[in-house]
Amino acid sequence: MKTRVLTGITTTGTPHLGNYVGAIRPAVAASRRDDVDAFYFMADYHALIKSDDAGRIERSRLEIAATWLAAGLDPQKVTFYRQSDIPEIPELTWFLTCVTAKGLLNRAHAYKAAVDKNSAAGEDADAGVTAGLYMYPVLMAADILAFNANKVPVGRDQIQHVEMTRDIAQRFNHIYGREFFVLPDVVIEEQVATLPGLDGRKMSKSYDNTIPLFAGGQKHLRDTIMRIVTDSRLPGEAKDPDNSALFTIFRAFASEAESAAFRQALVDGIGWGEAKQVLFERIEVDVAPMRESYDALIARPAMIEEILHEGAKKARAIAAPKIAELRDAIGLRSGSVAAPQAASKAAPKPGKSPRFASFRDGDGSFRFRLFSADGEELLLSKAFADPKSAGALQKRIKELGGVSAVLQAQPLALALELDGEQVATTPTYGDEQARDEALARLRGALDQLAAQE
Ligand code: TRP
Repeated sequence: MKTRVLTGITTTGTPHLGNYVGAIRPAVAASRRDDVDAFYFMADYHALIKSDDAGRIERSRLEIAATWLAAGLDPQKVTFYRQSDIPEIPELTWFLTCVTAKGLLNRAHAYKAAVDKNSAAGEDADAGVTAGLYMYPVLMAADILAFNANKVPVGRDQIQHVEMTRDIAQRFNHIYGREFFVLPDVVIEEQVATLPGLDGRKMSKSYDNTIPLFAGGQKHLRDTIMRIVTDSRLPGEAKDPDNSALFTIFRAFASEAESAAFRQALVDGIGWGEAKQVLFERIEVDVAPMRESYDALIARPAMIEEILHEGAKKARAIAAPKIAELRDAIGLRSGSVAAPQAASKAAPKPGKSPRFASFRDGDGSFRFRLFSADGEELLLSKAFADPKSAGALQKRIKELGGVSAVLQAQPLALALELDGEQVATTPTYGDEQARDEALARLRGALDQLAAQE
């Protein structure tokens, strides 16, 4: 069973070692797990809330995409995309905005902090606060809910936003009377390292104490490491590894054995200058090969663009059918005025229910179809070598329910995915509208089946 893990990366600033150790490295490692279906995206709409410097946003987007790819993110395995390439996200943001209580947003930490700061300074409470900052939690809810994410790994400052996402999703489900949205769980990486910066405080752009990851190249990395603040003990004097930012940073890269050896060297009185050189060389072992691919990527922005476009395609294949279903549910069905009639025709007659029909293919394999209560073909399963496996899939589909079904839009058809694997497809429809209407009927049929279980 695959868990869909989704997280956004705000595209402001230039990644530093703290970002790498605390966020990028663990996220890349998690994305490699077989039980994880990772959705990582660049939250560039969110970046607009923080910065109106177009050049900076543009540069940061490029640098951050290149950083994640260079750090080993595999865009074949992970759905890696840019928020602003997914028009379904702002569309969903509006749908959610219209069910979100204003009072909920009044309580958001980021907004409240801005208001408190204004009040303390004797300013108007909302001075300098944009509606963008105020609406931030709704945009973030759309990011998450558009993709049926199960788990959302974030920093502590974002917990409230994921809780608000659940609130907003529940409210929408309640108002429109169906479980449209999966309620996401927040994941806080408790044991994730926070690196100390140059001055020993947490490494953070706001303290201006960061060590760059790739920017400025090898020389800049070394020069910055040489500026790490130490005490004034001379070479030959014993150093205290447990009170040294140097040692903490070293440990974040090194094995137990390497760390033990470095600890010993410090206790034995290695000079700080030499110790910094040891730290630099250890970091270089990891960073140098990544820097090489980073530089290669930055030199070819068109390649990054291509990767992100592919990612956006994969992401939209999930979000587009979802939004189409929502449009239907809230009364925004696009296209013909006859649609409501079509909908009532499609409504199953009482007493009738969707059914499965199993058959054997020419090559002897076992398959089945799912028909609606009206006899419309909805799904054709993949081929199985034995009837038992085909039966097991039928059982899963029966229990699934419309909202949990992961349906990928193929140009004019839909594919049902279970545990990240494609298990059945719909017929091919004449156009996208017909496909989206069929999607609503399929979800309805799955709900009906689940209700009977
Ligand atoms: N707001 C998050 C941050 O600043 C980034 C983000 C945007 C995000 N959308 C998201 C994180 C959706 C998780 C899920 O860190």
